[in-house]
Amino acid sequence: MIPTLRLDAPLLVMGGPYSNLQATEALLAEAARRGIPGEHILCTGDVVAYAADAAACCDLMMQSGARVLMGNCEENLAAGAEDCGCGFAEDTACDLLSRAWYAHALRQVTARHRAWMGGLPRRIHLDLPDGRRLAVLHGGAREISRFLFASAGDEELRAELAATGCAGVIAGHCGIPFARRLAGGGLWLNAGAIGMPANDGTPRVWFALLTPGPRELGIEILPLAYDHAAAAAAMRRARLPEGYAAGLESGLWPSCDVLPPAELAARGQALAPRRLVW
Ligand SMILES: [Fe+2]
Repeated sequence: MIPTLRLDAPLLVMGGPYSNLQATEALLAEAARRGIPGEHILCTGDVVAYAADAAACCDLMMQSGARVLMGNCEENLAAGAEDCGCGFAEDTACDLLSRAWYAHALRQVTARHRAWMGGLPRRIHLDLPDGRRLAVLHGGAREISRFLFASAGDEELRAELAATGCAGVIAGHCGIPFARRLAGGGLWLNAGAIGMPANDGTPRVWFALLTPGPRELGIEILPLAYDHAAAAAAMRRARLPEGYAAGLESGLWPSCDVLPPAELAARGQALAPRRLVW
């Protein structure tokens, strides 16, 4: 049974908090500032990942009332697996860095957090006032850890969309926001991540705001500034890998192993807010 939400008011869509407490607090404060209650926040998963405060981020998201999808990090932590399940090739930079943060997160989270993670849905449906339905998923339609970036071809995204049986998709996992109307009229939206900048050379993080109308959906992709220095300092205090701590400050990922050529070429180019009507 897939949980279904009716979108009858603005919805804030957030990607992974990634154990970044300062960014998660800033996002929730931004929602409050906009008058958006916790129940109208949707998180596409990966509450826990690279940063210092896995347990506190779980607590915050659990208390917020937000609808949270299971990410690969939750799937693997709930199962007590040995790694984050991103499928990084052995001994690549991503693999070595992820082993360090995953062990840190596994030490922090409690049985209660893991039970919560294990009970999160893998798919959520979002019904729009105009009758169209969006599928909310983490990576891909069949594979939770599939990286689908903006450079993915329309054909590839349309095949993923077709597998959901819905009119559009809201996905997470890849960490860089984008929104695209696909050939044939479908929508693909990725809200980016809250816990890590978008590899655009700025410390800002990103979220999306959906505003439903009677016949169309307004979509905004928006930046969020937060106390990234405090988040980086917390990572250093926890003796987590310096690469991601520095990445919070520089806005540049310490490893680009997972990036397709187009996203690699765009590294360090500041993103701009985006608006789309679908
Ligand atoms: Fe993920």
